[in-house]
Amino acid sequence: MTRTAQAGNPARTQREDAIGTPPQRPTLVPAHRYYSEEFAQLEVDRMWPRVWQFACTLDHVAEPGDYFEYRCGPYSVLIVHGDDGVLRAFQNVCRHRGNSLCAGAGAQLRELKCGYHGWTWDLHGDLRRVPGRKGFGAIHLADFPLIGVKVDTWERLVFVNLDLDAMPLHDYLEHVVDDIAWNRLSEFRCYATLTIGVDANWKTIVDGFSETYHIQTLHPELHRCMDDVHAPQVIWGHTGKSEQLYGVPSPHLEATLGETDVWDAYVETQGALMGVAEDAPFPAGQQLPGQSVAEVIADRTREFAAGRGVDLSWASTDQVMRLHQYNVFPNLTVLTNADHLTVMTSQPGPDPDRGELVMTLWMRMPPGAERNTPAAVRLTAEEAHPGLVLTQDIAVLPGLQRGLHQPGFTHVVLSNEERRVINMHRNLERYLDLPEPDRMTGGETDGAATPQPAG
Ligand SMILES: [Fe+2]
Repeated sequence: MTRTAQAGNPARTQREDAIGTPPQRPTLVPAHRYYSEEFAQLEVDRMWPRVWQFACTLDHVAEPGDYFEYRCGPYSVLIVHGDDGVLRAFQNVCRHRGNSLCAGAGAQLRELKCGYHGWTWDLHGDLRRVPGRKGFGAIHLADFPLIGVKVDTWERLVFVNLDLDAMPLHDYLEHVVDDIAWNRLSEFRCYATLTIGVDANWKTIVDGFSETYHIQTLHPELHRCMDDVHAPQVIWGHTGKSEQLYGVPSPHLEATLGETDVWDAYVETQGALMGVAEDAPFPAGQQLPGQSVAEVIADRTREFAAGRGVDLSWASTDQVMRLHQYNVFPNLTVLTNADHLTVMTSQPGPDPDRGELVMTLWMRMPPGAERNTPAAVRLTAEEAHPGLVLTQDIAVLPGLQRGLHQPGFTHVVLSNEERRVINMHRNLERYLDLPEPDRMTGGETDGAATPQPAG
């Protein structure tokens, strides 16, 4: 059985290609917001505590007693799988003197005991023990529960929000949930989290995953095996999407590429997705009459999946070869097709010129597959080689961040192809409540009412 990616989804009807309808003029975004301490502080004060943030996966907190500490800038949130099976989240702070209760991740937690003076909470967040309690006079344990944080899941992704009045996660995600429902994301299991320290602002990092304009220059190998022209984009509000078809050469290319060229480029950039070695030649002898390179790659991908017990016979060639890339404000990128899921966030670092790229890696598993605790790997940008394309994306970041500081460079200049970057800034301005002179100008926003995302 095959299903088409287009089936029955009203959200798709408004989708445009990569460029879309050009605006009157470019959008200009003040460059200082990528490096100013004051701007970063505004984000810490007004934005990070009010947005839904992807924190970890259900594979990190699968069993009662599992816990995971999620950090973002100064904020630290503890996600705890309770002994009653309920997932809860708390601000990671002892109500006595403010010590952090936990660090990192672990299992078999029975209570949350502060390592400083021993105040102890149960996994529901209720205060149970205060050593030397008499010394406090009349103290009521019920007055000092752990401070709750909103926690919710989408498929196996766990999100938190420090704002207890925040809109429900499902509303925040808008059309994303329905748009990708066909892909059975719940069958994927997280096997590793890779955290890469980068000399760049979190926005500099996330911008690189919010447009396809850079592919023709930064990723020449990728450009030989993907269509970055008929790559429809859509903006929903907090969220947006791009689709890119792989296994075909970019229409931008002047030279005509043969099947072998496209195959070689695909193998070089993502051969691992079909379990093929880097120098594997195009299997021309096994090609059926009339079969395209994309169909050959899709067949190989299905065979590779079958080798691990995963049935992909339901997935059309389009569903295997089309990358669905979702951006969720502020810092989440979800990349997926029928046999691939990578979830990435960019996190603020200790100063606005530093950040982290956190890659959560998944694999579709057969039904009933055992859960394993994901590996946690932390690397410098120099050490990390997460594939040719992502390594290129990471390598450009320090020079980009340095360039943004140059005194003659006052504004980032954005095209409609970069409208997911523009949308990130539109949301950011809304959360920060920036005064008019500090807002971006030009494009669709100049003189016209800025489209307001839902909520
Ligand atoms: Fe890239």
